Amino acid sequence: MNFSDLILEWYDKNKRDLPWRKSKDPYKIWISEIILQQTKISQGTKYYLNFLKKFPNLKSLANSSENEVLLSWQGLGYYSRARNLHKSAKKIYFELENTFPKKYESLLKLKGIGDYTASAISSICFNEKNAVLDGNVYRILARYFLIDKPINASPSKKYFRKIAQDLIPNKRCGDYNQAIMDYSSMICKPVDPKCNICIFSKNCKANLFSMTMDYPKKLSKNKNRFIYYDYVIFEQGGKNLIQKINSGLWLNMYQFPVFQSYSCISLIDLKGMIYKKFKVSSYNIELINENFINHKLTHLQIQSRFWKISDTPKIKGGLYVDNFEKYPMSRLMHKFFEKYDYKLSLISL
Ligand code: ADE
Repeated sequence: MNFSDLILEWYDKNKRDLPWRKSKDPYKIWISEIILQQTKISQGTKYYLNFLKKFPNLKSLANSSENEVLLSWQGLGYYSRARNLHKSAKKIYFELENTFPKKYESLLKLKGIGDYTASAISSICFNEKNAVLDGNVYRILARYFLIDKPINASPSKKYFRKIAQDLIPNKRCGDYNQAIMDYSSMICKPVDPKCNICIFSKNCKANLFSMTMDYPKKLSKNKNRFIYYDYVIFEQGGKNLIQKINSGLWLNMYQFPVFQSYSCISLIDLKGMIYKKFKVSSYNIELINENFINHKLTHLQIQSRFWKISDTPKIKGGLYVDNFEKYPMSRLMHKFFEKYDYKLSLISL
């Protein structure tokens, strides 16, 4: 049996029972694949079920507000995924007469759908022969064929894509794509791979040379860059000032006003920045968290402090609220709320 027959045979016996596998509805497959791109299956499944409860079909997603979509996404990270889902749902529903594109090329035209998602949807829902390439697929191919090209360097993609495309069978393309991802994440695992029960152990070059843990190759990237966020919490009549974020990662979500720096600044410097931005100079300021609240992003780490500021006049350019739960916020803001039991107002602090 060849590679794809073996993996499909394994899949038929061992596939994971996942909620989106009961359907070939492109809407559901789309949502699941977008969620799973940066999220583990266990966490992703919960969000998938909640998301579908809230937005059971394209019509409901297209007719919702971006705020509602971001609220459902809260905690998952990479919020551009949610904003793009919403934009593309509107496009399909209002401009494409509620007809989900079927072909890889037409899927690629939608915002937020790249090579991986277009391959996944077109193969799983419409049996089009497009191999997916995600971290799992890179890993198993790198080990099986002993490929030295670093998987996180863009020129390698073409090379891996050709190999992946050569392996995908003509039939059951969608099953095959899911099979190779399942197989790699359950057997050809990054750490502690199960080579002793692997159906490819006699052909996998990395196993034959006892080099499984040396593959895949990756370029080392410096992940230890720090950036410092100083959040300032203005209080007014039991309510706190939050602002809508107008750029970047957390676009259209909300947060306390924040000052960003590349080093940890002194209180004097922070006061200077507060004056420059808000034109207030006499107030009480108090640091709430003794230790930084850390938040890891892909390429850097945020170290954050939260400052309580009272006795200022009302600040313009934001909303004073006491119902934070209505506003989508980053995981970092929620870490603060959880850690300091910071519910509705500063008064209880
Ligand atoms: N990872 C992302 N999408 C997947 C799928 N459909 N099956 C298995 N693993 C996945």
